[in-house]
Amino acid sequence: MAPSLARLSLAAALAATATSSVVNTPFPAGYPSPWGSGGAEGWEDAYAKAKDFVNQLTLVEKVNLTTGTGWEADVCVGMTGSVPRLGFRGFCLQDGPLGIRYSDRDLMRRRGQAMGEEFRGKGIDVQLGPVAGPLGRVPQGGRNWEGFSPDPYLTGVAMAETIQGIQSRGVIACAKHYILNEQEHYRGNVNVKIDDRTMHELYLWPFADAVRAGVGSVMCSYNKVNGEFACENEWSNNYLLKNELNFQGFVMSDWGAQKTTLSSALGGLDMAMPGDGAGPPYGSFWGGALTEAVLGGQVPEWRLDDMVIRIMAAYFKVHTGNYTYRPDINFSAWTKQATGPLHPLSNSTFTVVNEFVNVQADHGDLIREIGAKSIVLLKNENHALPLNKPKSMAVIGEDAQDIPGGPNACAERGCVKGTLAMGYGSGTAEFPYLISPATALQLQASADKTAFNNTSSNWDLGAARAAASKASVAIVFAMATSGENFIIIDGNAGDRNNLTLWNGGDDLIKAVASVNPNTIVVLHTVGPVIIDYAQEHPNITAIIWAGLPGQESGNALVDVLYGKVNPQGRSPFTWGKSVADYGAQLMFKAPNPAVPEQTFDEGIFIDYRYFDKAAVEPTYWFGFGLSYTSFDYVDLKIAVSNASSSSAASGLTAPAPTYGTVNKSAAANLLPAGFQKIRPYVYPWLNDSSATAATGTGPNISSFPAAARNGSAQPVLPAGGGAGGNPGLYDVLYMISATIKNTGEVAGTEIPQLYVQLGGEENPFGVLRGFDEIVLAPGEVKTVTFELTRRDVSNWNSTSGNWEISTKEKFVFVGSSAALIRLNSTLPAPAGMTWQGQ
Ligand code: BGC
Repeated sequence: MAPSLARLSLAAALAATATSSVVNTPFPAGYPSPWGSGGAEGWEDAYAKAKDFVNQLTLVEKVNLTTGTGWEADVCVGMTGSVPRLGFRGFCLQDGPLGIRYSDRDLMRRRGQAMGEEFRGKGIDVQLGPVAGPLGRVPQGGRNWEGFSPDPYLTGVAMAETIQGIQSRGVIACAKHYILNEQEHYRGNVNVKIDDRTMHELYLWPFADAVRAGVGSVMCSYNKVNGEFACENEWSNNYLLKNELNFQGFVMSDWGAQKTTLSSALGGLDMAMPGDGAGPPYGSFWGGALTEAVLGGQVPEWRLDDMVIRIMAAYFKVHTGNYTYRPDINFSAWTKQATGPLHPLSNSTFTVVNEFVNVQADHGDLIREIGAKSIVLLKNENHALPLNKPKSMAVIGEDAQDIPGGPNACAERGCVKGTLAMGYGSGTAEFPYLISPATALQLQASADKTAFNNTSSNWDLGAARAAASKASVAIVFAMATSGENFIIIDGNAGDRNNLTLWNGGDDLIKAVASVNPNTIVVLHTVGPVIIDYAQEHPNITAIIWAGLPGQESGNALVDVLYGKVNPQGRSPFTWGKSVADYGAQLMFKAPNPAVPEQTFDEGIFIDYRYFDKAAVEPTYWFGFGLSYTSFDYVDLKIAVSNASSSSAASGLTAPAPTYGTVNKSAAANLLPAGFQKIRPYVYPWLNDSSATAATGTGPNISSFPAAARNGSAQPVLPAGGGAGGNPGLYDVLYMISATIKNTGEVAGTEIPQLYVQLGGEENPFGVLRGFDEIVLAPGEVKTVTFELTRRDVSNWNSTSGNWEISTKEKFVFVGSSAALIRLNSTLPAPAGMTWQGQ
């Protein structure tokens, strides 16, 4: 193995540098919500179809598509109103995003496709995932596991692949939670203060990839961003997402994250979920209240039309090719019985709500493949793994066991029983079955004639030691979970209180290792845990991080333990030796809980970027993972491409369009005579004809600058102009290649990683900018090529409001983790530039 560069000494030299301070984000107050135009790649046809549709709608029909019918008002976790006159059913929105730790783009895509097929098969229009927020600022963040990694580049790739997979199957994906929802404590009202550069280079980055991948919807989060709630935030929604990133789809609120009628409409929200939750007169911030606001002129007609065109364009974007037909909704989110109410909240219209359509096809095989290929082998001494018919085996720990009462015994996985295969909260799915590690290992043991002992208690350390001391191999299991704040387990309110293993897992591991010199540790955890003691322990011969493997847990684990699959997963985060090692900290207790506030003043230095800067050596670095074989890296080559220079976007948009002609008399927008309301369903009609002067709930229109309602042509931002930003950002400036050889005895897959040092004290030692999966037979040699785009080598300049390649000298590193650098070189300056020192 080639020596790593002296990262830590360089990092130490950089450690004294200033952190970024929060600066005012430069954008004009009252920035109007940009109108969708279809002017981004992949949206033209969808907008043409959406225009034909929206042109025909009445005012209340338009409003009906923007507003949820209420919590538990219909069978899906969120459902909008419909357009019965045109036979158009309301939108069915359903959780969730389940995903974690990948090394392989193809698997990300196939996973997205499989999820899309399952959601479509149930009649769901919008899958509420994938997740890029939380990104993972702090390792205890309760919902980190719903997303991918604290590295924005990796999360961006995973978002794009997942979205394209889901949407290729006729289902709209939803990139959530936008943005800075980095912890569960105080998520409902914390004001997160952030500077422009950190926003662009870290948290917005993967959302840019989502938009570029054509995502149909984005869910705004519960928290505030620089003083305004995310669902009514002119900066994050209007300025960044809809103008700079040129997002053409719709923004929906997280459930209950909408706070007002006008601020949300003018602040870029397009769909209110679940739609209810406001007081009288409408029980909704929108519905009839939005109709009022449009008729009263507080919300311009173009803004309502823009909400609807965005929603319908997303619909038509995914309903193409073989997917124009829309399956009926055949499930209920609220009951497991076949029959039940169509409208649970009003307990009405009893019918068959669950047809139990089996949508799983052969996805179990894919889940097993993903489960095995994403296992990360952290330690493997004395060839402890793979196992080869051991004489005797002790399986120890509750985390290896079947879940008493069945895999779904705890609602939304909100308890700790048996093996851990997903976190808890709305991001969960129901298991059709769950193969526990003990079950799968027992099967393998009996095939191999291995004497097998299974000891389940975490607390009976005497029994654990007794079992372990008699076995030729002891496999000890431990877990740590987290989730969403509406469930509290053992005092953990969503976020983890610490980074230790749960249920006495650390003591169990130590007890087993104290008596068995061939102890293998298997971890099912939502993120990093403190395991430096296990890394150092001479009796612990192997450590496996199996993450949250899902229903094929045991089978996937056996595949790796026995070498049927050579491990290839790489850790998507850094494993510190203490919480303090991570720098940025979770805010458990706000100094003033009435107005909780957090400043992300660590800037872009989270996870491995921080460890490096602070010269803190972790247990395992981001990107680390072993194989049963070994690889050599040689021959780094850099080709500078001829991409022309990119110019700042400029020009003006067209003025805001409206679609069709609507009757704006109060009478035309009243509840039709004879219509029987289902209460407390949300409707778009006015309560009475005198109601058009009100402003709904929230601030009066006089508190908004006139610019907020300005539908005249608007300047395109310099960094804008295409889906995901200026198209020039995605020009390939460099092709970087390296040659990888399998120097071991067995076939294996290496995941070479490309890091770039952008130069200067304000940049980390390296940031991930490429990775690939290289499958190699013993002795085989292959070349991997990475493409570096303009965005990849740029920094955000908040003064010019644009990405810029600085004149600081830059370096590239190819390695097998953020610290194991195998090859390195300076990066030649792009045509027309010269580097001017570091
Ligand atoms: C969560 C979202 C979820 C929604 C609907 C919210 O509490 O934050 O992620 O999609 O509920 O279940």
